[in-house]
Amino acid sequence: MHSITKSTVSLLLLLAALSAHAQKFEGLATRPPLGWNSWNTFATNINEQLVKDMADLFVSSGLKDAGYEYIVLDDGWMAKERDSNGNLIADPAKFPGGMKAVADYVHAKGLKFGLYNCAGSKTCAGYPGSRGHEYQDARLYASWGVDFLKYDWCGAGKMNAEEAYTTMRDALYAAKRPMVFSICEWGDNQPWNWATPIGHLWRITGDIANCWNCEEGHGSWSSWGVLRILDMRKGIRKASGPGHWNDFDMMEIGNGMTVSEDRAHFALWSMMASPLIMGNDLRSASKQTLEILGNKEVIAVNQDSLGIQAMRYLDENGDLDVWAKPLSNGDWAICFLNRSETPYQLQFDWSKHRISEDITGRNLQFSDANYQVRDLFQHKNIGTTKVVLNAVVPAHDVLMLRLQKS
Ligand code: GLA
Repeated sequence: MHSITKSTVSLLLLLAALSAHAQKFEGLATRPPLGWNSWNTFATNINEQLVKDMADLFVSSGLKDAGYEYIVLDDGWMAKERDSNGNLIADPAKFPGGMKAVADYVHAKGLKFGLYNCAGSKTCAGYPGSRGHEYQDARLYASWGVDFLKYDWCGAGKMNAEEAYTTMRDALYAAKRPMVFSICEWGDNQPWNWATPIGHLWRITGDIANCWNCEEGHGSWSSWGVLRILDMRKGIRKASGPGHWNDFDMMEIGNGMTVSEDRAHFALWSMMASPLIMGNDLRSASKQTLEILGNKEVIAVNQDSLGIQAMRYLDENGDLDVWAKPLSNGDWAICFLNRSETPYQLQFDWSKHRISEDITGRNLQFSDANYQVRDLFQHKNIGTTKVVLNAVVPAHDVLMLRLQKS
């Protein structure tokens, strides 16, 4: 009897130990992560000073105050070879003080620090990948104070994505430092079907391109403009929510699209409850760019605690979309998107509409309730839902509203 009890206890302890490793860090990214990533503007041309400049600018430009938190170095931070013990080395020319000092600098500003690697043997830009070194790399990141790992999929060959990402998840968990785990396999293996227990966000498409509605071919793959990404995946909004987000990719705001397009890009990513990861050079960002990125009323829609990805309620002849997102206090965000090349004369009679949201079963109807209508880019109340909304939405632009029961 005694030995049965003993072996039962040992078995239970073993099971507890095993299950303690078989999970992601819970309680992270309960709202879509807000931050900055080096790739869209700098590719592998990154260094210590760049991170410090971005961290300083998060604070001085008010972006930190608006909620931005993560500074993430993408591909190209490592030396081309591991050391003789198989450890990754931060490129000594780019990061002469080492990566821990960089992380310390970011932390001292009250911000969080992220790095990139890849499930294959090499990253997409040809630096050493984590394959076969997952636990070793996770321990190294933990020792540096890394808070966020973006994990890519180049050179994955025939690897099973769910297994490969689970391995890295377990390695991070074993390293005992809570890190947001950002899955980047471009939606090729439908991560929305399996990644909730593994990562905190997952890319749903190939790379973003700095354009409104283009496809840029790169031989075997393409990158995609804002509308292409918006339209690419159907029926996956239910997979997204607190701690497990559909990631529409790092933003191109401030990188050369028009102000209208930048505004629409920001509004849409916010409506979709996508992570909002800036991809521009904050040192040269215009006032207009910073105003868009720092728009607290729009960010509040993105960060709403329900974490519901907007649904497309209407699609008027392909020119105008109406997107709707229920918010936690009974408010709704509504975004009119003019996809066309000419201004759209909007006449929207609220009383003729009833919006039913199929994740929470919330209904928005105007017969028995009146809502205040607030324009989130003008920062002013523009009427109520008792009157027909008359507005011009410029080409490639949005009218983004918050409806508040009055
Ligand atoms: C892939 C990813 C990008 C970026 C590059 C880096 O293309 O999808 O976001 O990380 O690799 O090489």
